[in-house]
Order: sequence, then structure tokens, then C-alpha cells
Amino acid sequence: MKGVILAGGLGKRLYPLTKITNKHLLPVYDKPMIYYPLECLIKAGIEEIIIVTGGNNAGDFLRLLGNGKEFGLKHLHYTYQEGEGGIAAALALAEDFADNECICVVLGDNIIEKNIKKDIEDYSKKSRGARIFLKEVPDRERFGVPEIVNGKIIKIEEKPKNPKSKYAVTGIYIYDSNVFDIIRTLVPSQRNELEITDVNNRYVELGEMTYSILDGWWADAGTPESLFKASRLVSETGANNLLLLKKK
Ligand code: DAU
Repeated sequence: MKGVILAGGLGKRLYPLTKITNKHLLPVYDKPMIYYPLECLIKAGIEEIIIVTGGNNAGDFLRLLGNGKEFGLKHLHYTYQEGEGGIAAALALAEDFADNECICVVLGDNIIEKNIKKDIEDYSKKSRGARIFLKEVPDRERFGVPEIVNGKIIKIEEKPKNPKSKYAVTGIYIYDSNVFDIIRTLVPSQRNELEITDVNNRYVELGEMTYSILDGWWADAGTPESLFKASRLVSETGANNLLLLKKK
């Protein structure tokens, strides 16, 4: 399995913090935000990773992360998303990199406490369809929310006014190579983006969606409040427990 980190977009909800720099370079406690999704994939055993970036200061990712050697990676790939066409549009740019393999996608502003290695191993037994990670949260109207009947997801709604379950869909997704054909069929949403929720609903319709409930805490650092909360959670957990940065 290969890893994809989506770190494009303009981070408007964090203006003016993101007026001149990229959201994923902002500090979360004592590290730049991008370190956390990177470490999430590395700890799960993924060795080939691409970062899709965009907006301001894209070149700074290269200055910060280099060729990935510091993280024990053989190669770290990069690509650039022009504009802010949505999460699925950013993912489409990873098609050549994925080269028909399954991928684990992490949104660049998502930070988790625990390791998802077991879930990846479980998915890899079949390597088919999609798997998403759910987490119970109080403010689920900010996220994608699944409707679950008899233990099966029957639909996901993006930022619903009346959420149909207590869970949010977190920004960690596992897909087979069919994901890129699905993205080609999407039309832009009301906010003029290609939505990852539309991709996930297609897998639901095909009967090929499974889910895990995420262990430990989950933070999405895309707003001032959640960025602050993420820093607090990282500091309380002990940043070194989350990060495995290798000093070579
Ligand atoms: O955090 C989980 C949530 O992420 C999910 O529950 C939602 O279903 C999903 O749509 C997404 O919602 P957000 O509104 O929080 O997404 P946001 O626009 O903040 O983008 C999240 C990350 O995705 C961002 O840090 C970088 C990447 N991204 C986003 C856009 C719009 C891109 O790479 N390119 C883009 O064009």
C-alpha cells in the first residue's frame, strides 16, 4: 500500500494565519502540522508517500521534508494542485504515483493519537473497496456524517444540519485503484469542489464500503479553535509518543 497526504487548499478558515503561508506548515505544539499525517502513514508501515500540496509556499515542503530520509523513507514524492478544486480533485493528482496499488489517504490537517496499522493489515487481506475511519464527536455538523443501519453505512452526508449518527468521518481513507475512475465521474458540489464524500458514497452504493472506529483522540486542525485544541492534545499526550522522527 502507498500513502497520499493531501495538503493543498487555501486554508481560508485560518486567515490571517494562512495569508502568506501554507496551513500545513503551521505549528501544532512543537512540530509543523504536516509531520503528523506523515508519521501516521510511516507508523502504519507505509514506505512510499506522496504529498499533494498547493497554494502558498509549496516549495517550503521540500525545504522542510527534503527527500524523506530523515523520516526513514526511501522516497518522498510531491505534486502541486492548482487552485482549490476540492479534496477529490487533489487526490486525482496521485493517480500515476498510485500505479494501480491500494492507497491510504490522510488529509494534511488531520492528527490522530493511535496507530492504524492493524486496520491497514485487515484491509490488505482483501485489498478491495474502501475503508473509512469514524470517530464520535460533539460537533459532527462540521464534518461528513454517516447514516448507519444494522452496522452498515447506507449514506454519508457532508456537513449535515441534522446529523444521522453520532460519528464524524475522519480524514483518513483507504481505497483500491477504482477510486480514480470514480473521481472522473464526479461533478462539483455547491461549494464548487469535488467532494471526497461523493467518492465515499459511490463506494457505499457499490456495497464496497467498510469502516473502523478510530481508537484514541482525533483532531482536525483546520479552524483556529481546532488548531489550538490539536496543540493541546499533542502536548498532553507527549509529542514524542506521536512522532517517530528518525535522526540519521
Ligand atoms: O477532517 C475531516 C473532514 O475533512 C471530513 O469529515 C469531511 O467529510 C471532508 O470533506 C473534509 O472536510 P473539511 O471541510 O474539513 O475539508 P477542508 O476543506 O478543510 O480540507 C481538508 C484538507 O484537505 C486540507 O487540510 C488539505 C486538503 N485539501 C482540501 C481542499 C479543499 C486539498 O488538498 N485540496 C483542496 O482543494
